[in-house]
Amino acid sequence: MYLQRLAPHIRMPKGKGAFDLGESFQMQRNYISSVRISSPVDEASYLHELPVVRHLTQMKELVFSKAVTFLVGENGTGKSTLLEAIAVAYGFNAEGGSRNFSFSTSETHSDLHRHLTLTKSAFPKDGFFLRAESFYNTASYIDELDAIPTRQPHIVASYGGRSLHKQSHGESFLALVQNRFGGNGIYLLDEPEAALSPSRLMSLLVHIHELVQNNSQFIIASHSPILMAYPGAEVYHLSEDRICSVDYKDTEHYQLTRRFLENPERMLHYLLEGN
Ligand SMILES: Nc1ncnc2c1ncn2[C@@H]1O[C@H](COP(=O)(O)OP(=O)(O)O)[C@@H](O)[C@H]1O
Ligand SMILES: [Mg+2]
Repeated sequence: MYLQRLAPHIRMPKGKGAFDLGESFQMQRNYISSVRISSPVDEASYLHELPVVRHLTQMKELVFSKAVTFLVGENGTGKSTLLEAIAVAYGFNAEGGSRNFSFSTSETHSDLHRHLTLTKSAFPKDGFFLRAESFYNTASYIDELDAIPTRQPHIVASYGGRSLHKQSHGESFLALVQNRFGGNGIYLLDEPEAALSPSRLMSLLVHIHELVQNNSQFIIASHSPILMAYPGAEVYHLSEDRICSVDYKDTEHYQLTRRFLENPERMLHYLLEGN
């Protein structure tokens, strides 16, 4: 098969016809079906001027009606701030992990979560907040918990049985998704592509799909035109001017990447020689 020749380690979905690309993958009810700002953010806070906060304040709510929602947009628009605030408001640890993780290496998270109201439409059995930038701390926390003598099975067993520190960043990231994400869950991911090679990114798409078919919801901040191609996903583009739903092919990420790859020499000529 074409893809397996190209990238042999991509694990294909179980069962025949698991992908029906014409279908919009839709859960019965999302665990988090919307978010809104329910109390004013202090005007003296940097949060008040953050594009995502300004727009959310003006909007009634941001609706999560699809199984997979992407938050995309320029650096600094507030994607991570919003995702983190949703995670904290939902009961996750601000630096990442499952709902019972309580480590903190630095108290750097904003207090935006205090101003958010989430509409929770169903109860998940599983959940994880995964942020590429503090994944190292999540891995350390799991190792620390396992160093405490206990009769319970080691936590690392549910992360593939090997310390996440003894695998590469990309391997451990995917091991976590493969082994720890159990379905019927809410998964909040911040730039998961940061650790992953293109073929592992495609593996992540396969895992996301299996988990969605197993009644899961994802909210993902991403810059990856590969990841945001997930069929039926809602792509919210955050900018200085607004938050709007876009087709993924209309995102700058898709358009610019495509133009670059179609003719790298021409693009490099523009970039490096200024004409
Ligand atoms: N403690 C802080 N004080 C002032 N500005 C901050 C603070 N924390 C984050 N910011 C600013 O908030 C903006 C949004 O950050 P972030 O949510 O990480 O953006 P994104 O994920 O969209 O790239 C950034 O411009 C960042 O500099
Ligand atoms: Mg970010």
